[in-house]
Amino acid sequence: MASVSTAAAPALARAASDAPADARPERSDPRAPVTMVLNINGREHRVALDARTTLLDALREHLGLTGAKKGCDHGQCGACTVLLGRRRVLSCLTLTAVAQGHPVTTIEGLAKPDGELHPMQQAFIDHDAFQCGYCTPGQILSAVACVSEGHAGSDADIREYMSGNLCRCAAYPNIVAAVNQAKALMTTSVTGAGQP
Ligand code: FES
Ligand code: FES
Repeated sequence: MASVSTAAAPALARAASDAPADARPERSDPRAPVTMVLNINGREHRVALDARTTLLDALREHLGLTGAKKGCDHGQCGACTVLLGRRRVLSCLTLTAVAQGHPVTTIEGLAKPDGELHPMQQAFIDHDAFQCGYCTPGQILSAVACVSEGHAGSDADIREYMSGNLCRCAAYPNIVAAVNQAKALMTTSVTGAGQP
């Protein structure tokens, strides 16, 4: 039995490859753009992108929202943090398609429409919680979520729940101070642009 199967396999493979091209089932091009509708900072955007495009690349390369930073592109630094609904996500590890149906908040959409800063943005300024600023958009969005999750009860909690956001300038003590200031002023809603 084994020798019959072995002998038959090449013949079957040959027959399949000899079939005319138009007789084979059509395959769609996996690189063909897919239309997606995104709600970012309270505005709807319709984009046509490769289905494999990350949310970070969609924001930075296709929508001109460069606040989220590409630090490592491997989920290790937190510089790309944005809010997806009420959750903080690493946009370098999030497919754009997954963001459909959820409001996305980036640092560009955190202040109120009249320009008034979010309490967390103001607190970062008040406490000088940055130096070069590269990590700051991700730190601020992560801090907003940290508070709304109820993980800012103590300095130790803040350090633990902000530990996914690295700062090469080591502004950590100032960041903890900023979160402590902002948490007293924040409501629990972080689901839309300009909402603390
Ligand atoms: Fe996403 Fe570093 S760029 S975690
Ligand atoms: Fe420079 Fe954080 S302020 S990396």
